[in-house]
Amino acid sequence: MGPALDRHVALIGFMGAGKTTLGREVAERLARPFVDLDVELEHEAGLAVPKLFEQGEALFRAKEAKLTLDRLRTRPPAVLALGGGAVTSHEVRAALREHAVTVLVDVSVEDAWSRVRGGDRPLARDELTFRALYEKRRPLYDETADARASTAEDVVLAAAAVHVEPGSLARLGELVPDAPVALVSDAHVAGIHGAAAQVALGARLAGVHELPPGEGAKTIDAVSRVWEALALDRSGVLIALGGGCTTDAAGYAAAAYLRGIRWVAAPSSLVGQVDAAIGGKTAIDLPQGKNLVGAFHWPARTVIDPTLLETLPEREWREGLAEVVKTGLLCGEPLWERPPHELVRRCAAFKSQVCLRDPYDGGERNVLNLGHTFAHALEAAAGYETVTHGQAVALGLLAALRLSGVDTRGVDEVLHPRPVRVDRDRAWAALQRDKKRRDGTIRLVLLDAPGRPVWGVERPEHEVRAALDALIDG
Ligand SMILES: NC(=O)c1ccc[n+]([C@@H]2O[C@H](COP(=O)([O-])OP(=O)(O)OC[C@H]3O[C@@H](n4cnc5c(N)ncnc54)[C@H](O)[C@@H]3O)[C@@H](O)[C@H]2O)c1
Ligand SMILES: [Zn+2]
Repeated sequence: MGPALDRHVALIGFMGAGKTTLGREVAERLARPFVDLDVELEHEAGLAVPKLFEQGEALFRAKEAKLTLDRLRTRPPAVLALGGGAVTSHEVRAALREHAVTVLVDVSVEDAWSRVRGGDRPLARDELTFRALYEKRRPLYDETADARASTAEDVVLAAAAVHVEPGSLARLGELVPDAPVALVSDAHVAGIHGAAAQVALGARLAGVHELPPGEGAKTIDAVSRVWEALALDRSGVLIALGGGCTTDAAGYAAAAYLRGIRWVAAPSSLVGQVDAAIGGKTAIDLPQGKNLVGAFHWPARTVIDPTLLETLPEREWREGLAEVVKTGLLCGEPLWERPPHELVRRCAAFKSQVCLRDPYDGGERNVLNLGHTFAHALEAAAGYETVTHGQAVALGLLAALRLSGVDTRGVDEVLHPRPVRVDRDRAWAALQRDKKRRDGTIRLVLLDAPGRPVWGVERPEHEVRAALDALIDG
């Protein structure tokens, strides 16, 4: 269990499942090389698979296993499509556990047969034998797979160790690593969903801890209290149930406790499910600023149960909607028009994809800051009191779209941003501080068009200031 950071994404499954087509698409989404092991095998042997098979299945399997093992032990991490029978090797299964996130590409026996019948595959010559083999292999695939998938989006989510399923809180016990666990939750969310989580974790629960709701969780005092109360050894797993404040603080608690223990994020707010609980950034605040102390510590799994959002207050929904609109602009689809569960899944998949391409925020992940340079300036100018992050992001998106020359209708209609009353000079000074923390220039994320973000863009200061000014009332 865990994300495919320095590991491969390995697709397994029966012949005819579509591993090659899916593998290519996933490789493109994750900006990784794609390796089709059947093709590599043919290339290496200088013979097509049916010909290789004629030399005897045992010899074929030995060659297939050797090549698969070599590839699994090689870096950089890639997307691998394994041969249908590769998992029959015990050694391959062990190597998959060590070197890959393994995803079973689901296919029914009927679909598989209709795709491969009449072809030249040696094990697909008659339907009865084909069906029998399918049944025989099935338990092996199930045992080997970390997740199942039918679409590229499913694979991307699995690669980021993100599990999206309505009702999954009740299955938390099955979805977290098999080890003693401590539940850390937002005191408010604990009162609503804590009991269900505790029941799901059952006898493995080695402690229940609460953090103050909201930003108060992200303080050294609150995290310290959790550290002092935790009764886990290095094999233990911390489970964070709550919004982005809880997952940020509890994730940081896990990152530093005993120099780092595993953790699982169970986000309960829209911000948490589409943004904060994905991508491995954890942090607490200092009086000098937000998120100034933290660590990259990817959760072993993020368990997203969109039904938890049914108890989320409307105002918190709106906070998340700003990030949803941001995501929709970045991927070029009006994701905000989708039904809630689908919207959560699509946004979670997009964030997973960007973060897997840049796991430690070295460049491309910058695009997730669309609108945020302006947003942070407005929030700082308001002393983090009168303007919420969601309101500020809605306005920041407006500024970014205007500077990009892109239609602002989506933002206007969904988020209804209204200029805020803050001190203009204070906002500009905050934006300048942001600039100093980088390399002395204001670098923006803009859009060439919806779905085509560009980052590190420089614009003349007077244009940036004018865009910021237009967000301020009075
Ligand atoms: N790590 C990251 O990559 C990342 C990304 C985005 C945001 N963040 C951080 O996330 C934080 C904001 O997260 P947030 O907006 O979720 O705030 P939050 O955690 O404070 O939750 C918002 C409010 O909603 C309540 N709540 C949460 N789930 C609920 C539910 N299911 N039913 C009823 N009430 C519920 C909480 O008690 C809280 O009062 C910020 O600190 C921000 O810095 C981090
Ligand atoms: Zn944000």
